[in-house]
Amino acid sequence: MVKIRNKINDIEPYVPGRSIKEIADAYGLKEDEIIKLGSNENPLGPSPAAVEAMERELESVHRYPESALTDLREAIADYAGVGMDQVIVGGDGADEIIDVLGRTFLEPGESFVVPMPSYMYYEYTLQAHDARAVHARWDVNENRLDLESVLDAVDESTRLVFLCTPNNPTGGLIDKKDIRAVLESTDTLVVVDEAYTEFAGVDNTDLLPDHENLFILRTFSKVMGLAGMRIGYGLGDPQIIEYMHRVKPVFSLTRLSHAAALATIRDRDYIKKSTEYSIKSREYLYSGLKKFPELRVFRSYANYILIDVRGTGRTAAELSEELLRKGIIVRDCTSFTGLDEYWIRVSVGTLEEDRRFLEVLGELVQ
Ligand SMILES: Cc1ncc(COP(=O)(O)O)c(C=O)c1O
Repeated sequence: MVKIRNKINDIEPYVPGRSIKEIADAYGLKEDEIIKLGSNENPLGPSPAAVEAMERELESVHRYPESALTDLREAIADYAGVGMDQVIVGGDGADEIIDVLGRTFLEPGESFVVPMPSYMYYEYTLQAHDARAVHARWDVNENRLDLESVLDAVDESTRLVFLCTPNNPTGGLIDKKDIRAVLESTDTLVVVDEAYTEFAGVDNTDLLPDHENLFILRTFSKVMGLAGMRIGYGLGDPQIIEYMHRVKPVFSLTRLSHAAALATIRDRDYIKKSTEYSIKSREYLYSGLKKFPELRVFRSYANYILIDVRGTGRTAAELSEELLRKGIIVRDCTSFTGLDEYWIRVSVGTLEEDRRFLEVLGELVQ
């Protein structure tokens, strides 16, 4: 048997949201009857400008992609209000940027801090770098960051701190003053994950000029409607961006993803329409869910809602399985550290998909 790194033996495979095809095959359903509310995507589909740009680009896929990505980095810089030398783009989404952060900052045995529950992929990716996760606390009942727990968790071995706002899966926001308090308590790089920032109408780029240890993580997978094209970006101090470029895979952004990202970020009407639609859908879902006395529903600033389902007498696994049989995919949050087996997360759909979800949920739990 070939020898693998010891660390690889300890890694449990990541449990992603399930795809439409997997569910159709497993439950004998047609793919087009399935409603996918499990992965926080854009229910409106991609920008038509992105589709056209990809079609045009198809003729050129025999050529390697660009590596400098100057036009896309400029467009992102313009969108985010920063300089082009403050932008790095990742070709496996924001997830690639997390990996590049690990390669740039973590020596084996060093640690990173994450308040739990939060996005599980930080830990999943960084364990391959032989780094240690140190858990701080997200107060789920109050849906806010436990700032003291973060300040207490950071020590001399900490190289990265992750703060997700709005937080996935809880949907709560982190106050700017708390982000500033963490930034000012340490020289460690503080990664503020703003994957869902457009839905919340907040951004922390104004903290960049005074805090060289701030790094902001964003994605084209949510409001930009390009989850399948795998594009993410980070914003930070030019020196940090330069170090990260030394270890980032050079050609990871494909020609099609490059074309799609550029067309979408220039299509401000699409971004505005997508933002407004998802917020409307979220509020519709929230008020529909609040009518169920069996559910505890959390206020969210993102494009998903966290629900405590223990009042239904079922676990999240049981309820999501029943929903799957009816063709509806939600996220069973049992695998999230910091939540027990009674939580599901539902993403916004089209208003029609939301209505159907609420109807089926009503039939199951009432
Ligand atoms: C908080 C958070 N950060 C980052 C990501 C990764 O996004 P991407 O699709 O760009 O890899 C996600 C995806 O769900 C997320 O929820």
